[in-house]
Amino acid sequence: MENLGNKKLFIETLGCAMNTRDTEHIIAELNSKDNYETTEDVADADLIIINTCSVREKPVAKLFSELGQFKKKKKPNAKVGVCGCTASHLGKEIIKKAPYVDFVVGARNVSKISEAVQNKGTVEIDINHDETDYEFAQYRNSLYKVSVNISLGCDKKCTFCIVPATRGEEISIPPELIIGEIQKAVDNGAKEVFLLGQNVNNYGKNFSDGRDKFNFTKLLQAISEIEKLERIRFTSPHPLHMDNEFIAEFASNPKICKQIHVPLQAGSTKVLKDMKRGYTKEWFIDRCQRIKSLVPEVRISTDIIVGFPGETNEEFKDTIDVINTVKFDQIFNFKYSPRPETEALHMSNQVEDDIASARLEEVIALHKNHQVELMQENVGKTMNVFFEELKPNGEIMGFSDNYCQIFVEASEELLGCTVPIKIIHANRTSLKGEVVAKEN
Ligand code: 5AD
Ligand code: SF4
Repeated sequence: MENLGNKKLFIETLGCAMNTRDTEHIIAELNSKDNYETTEDVADADLIIINTCSVREKPVAKLFSELGQFKKKKKPNAKVGVCGCTASHLGKEIIKKAPYVDFVVGARNVSKISEAVQNKGTVEIDINHDETDYEFAQYRNSLYKVSVNISLGCDKKCTFCIVPATRGEEISIPPELIIGEIQKAVDNGAKEVFLLGQNVNNYGKNFSDGRDKFNFTKLLQAISEIEKLERIRFTSPHPLHMDNEFIAEFASNPKICKQIHVPLQAGSTKVLKDMKRGYTKEWFIDRCQRIKSLVPEVRISTDIIVGFPGETNEEFKDTIDVINTVKFDQIFNFKYSPRPETEALHMSNQVEDDIASARLEEVIALHKNHQVELMQENVGKTMNVFFEELKPNGEIMGFSDNYCQIFVEASEELLGCTVPIKIIHANRTSLKGEVVAKEN
């Protein structure tokens, strides 16, 4: 029954999966310590939080216009807080610019949220704050899925990326805490875990208690021992750390979903060097081909930046060449965006905006063709689908082992079950299927 005495929290989340998980932690902390319940209506909220992203310039500009909107709509006594990566990088500047903001809590400081809400003017933005053994209150968005952080921060020095300046040094969460958290969720009905970190496959290099090194492959093996856990997914792995041992585990472990993010960024080895990515065009293609040869049904997604400083037309063609060679199932495309506290900001040969825009268009158009082609190949196949959601039109929705989104007209009794489904139609980003009739 709804408790009308509870306070209401409105929270908006921008950015990546880590931020989405931070939001879950914020909700859990404020619920268990201060009795907040979430609301979708800003005007009804006693507390308004925006969990920000700073990876590109646009969302940062959006923050202040969004805050202005909240100020207009909010109840007179409602508090306003800014969390996440932009909180880390702008800190008290935010309160200077928007004095109605009550507190600022950066990424990696989420455990301090309850105190910050109670203390007007709080700015907690220590980017190396160690929360690896903090036991957050439990909360998850989905009945069947749980997201679990395995590491915080990033030790790479990619020259375009602000993340090391907002999420600090890379530090791994001890395996027994990760396994304990997953076990708890599984005991409460979760079937799928999504492991999160900026660089998941660099896991185990640095623990705060100084214990011996561990690695991501061993972590995957240990997690897959958890009974009743059916699916393991993770993001983001780094192409540099995709050694043969890791790829073999990915291929052979039946609990690991056969979908993998392999962030390319750029196809040219020269641009990759300027980005300090640590791998070449050839290494990247070799990793993808190895994965595909061991897992023919694999779906590969990637991130691409066009218009990095100094990128010539010829170098951009290397990106096109990699896209044509690998044929990604999904591409997250970005125009390079200069960011504070990054090396690339100071590079002199910035690419003109119209050139970068044209490159972006080219990537988008090429990828659309690939998507249509790749999705069409699924028609007629039978896939094991785990159903997790009833849609308003009466269809049920689930994902295959290689994480295709599939819609089926079938009984909602199938929710929470894995069922063989025959694919009858392909859209560009999802499939339609039907339950395979049982033979008598
Ligand atoms: N400009 C454009 N895209 C960026 N990304 C990170 N920093 C920038 C930037 N300065 C992209 C990368 C990364 C993804 C999360 O965001 O592709 O993998
Ligand atoms: Fe940023 Fe590079 Fe770290 Fe990814 S690996 S978070 S792109 S610095």
